[in-house]
Amino acid sequence: MTTEEIEAAKAESLKEIAEAADAAAVEGLRVKYVGRNGSIPALVKGLKDVPREDRPAFGRAVQAWRAAVEAALAEKAQAAPAARAAAIDSSLPGDWRRPGAMHPLSRVIEDTARIFARLGFTVADGPDIETRFNNFTALNTPAHHPSMDRADTFWLGPDALLRTQTSPVQIRTMMANKPPVRVICPGRTYRRDTTDATHSANFHQIEGLYVDEKPVSLADLKSTLAYFAREITGSDAGVRFRPHFFPFTEPSVEVDFTCHVCRGKGCAVCKQSGWIEIAGAGMVDPRVFKHVGWDPEKVSGYAFGFGVERIAMIKYGIPDIRWLYENDLRFLSQFA
Ligand code: PHE
Repeated sequence: MTTEEIEAAKAESLKEIAEAADAAAVEGLRVKYVGRNGSIPALVKGLKDVPREDRPAFGRAVQAWRAAVEAALAEKAQAAPAARAAAIDSSLPGDWRRPGAMHPLSRVIEDTARIFARLGFTVADGPDIETRFNNFTALNTPAHHPSMDRADTFWLGPDALLRTQTSPVQIRTMMANKPPVRVICPGRTYRRDTTDATHSANFHQIEGLYVDEKPVSLADLKSTLAYFAREITGSDAGVRFRPHFFPFTEPSVEVDFTCHVCRGKGCAVCKQSGWIEIAGAGMVDPRVFKHVGWDPEKVSGYAFGFGVERIAMIKYGIPDIRWLYENDLRFLSQFA
């Protein structure tokens, strides 16, 4: 190349850079002219073939070309953001991303775990498929008990079933530990129920168990559940115990919380009583301790169990249990 030819190529390259429409085009021209295999480095490499007397002028022309190209590229790069900004129409609506939300059932389980953690309870876990022993026998439920009926329980074999309650986790916890134990056990439970607005064949429970070598009383159970009631449904909530029967607790109670709708005054939701049934509970039956090999003369404790769906429906005013399973975003996004 003669110096005149270099001048012509320089003019052409500067025109190309000036006309480059976008960042990609600018980058392409950078590669073409000053990149490792670009035309300017190629000329530098060819310098040794230029007649000695022409080399200084040739070298100056090449350096001038490189400087001009680099200056043009730098100028273009500076102008680019301004050009982009001009292309943004800030009056257009934004790009809306729906935030994720925790499912109301998960929320109740997490809140419950947090509340009981303050009282020293840890979270224990057990499988959905249980043995007859853990779900019934060890819980002092005799073979003729109606809950063992084929009409109520999903049996998987003579000895295996889908757990009908989270109470078998009491058995697992005691078998695997020494007193004292303080656990809550959230999990899925299964019953042969026909689905309607308040029933599901697959629902969730949270079990609680506290056993100690120092005496544990029904008053301890009541104060613990009263604390939970206030924390989960509001500071003015109270608890009421009604006598009941469960094979694995003695005495047994049904637990009511102050109605969340009328706050105890009486309304249609609580059938004018001012109370809402929340849980089953009681003092662990000595026969249960015997089944897990603990001495009922040395230990005492309480247990309770409540439905997670029920708490969620009360807390969030959900009228139909099925809404909790349908994964309809119109419903779920309200919990975001
Ligand atoms: N397992 C009982 C039920 O499902 C509830 C319960 C748990 C009662 C612990 C007493 C103690 O109805």
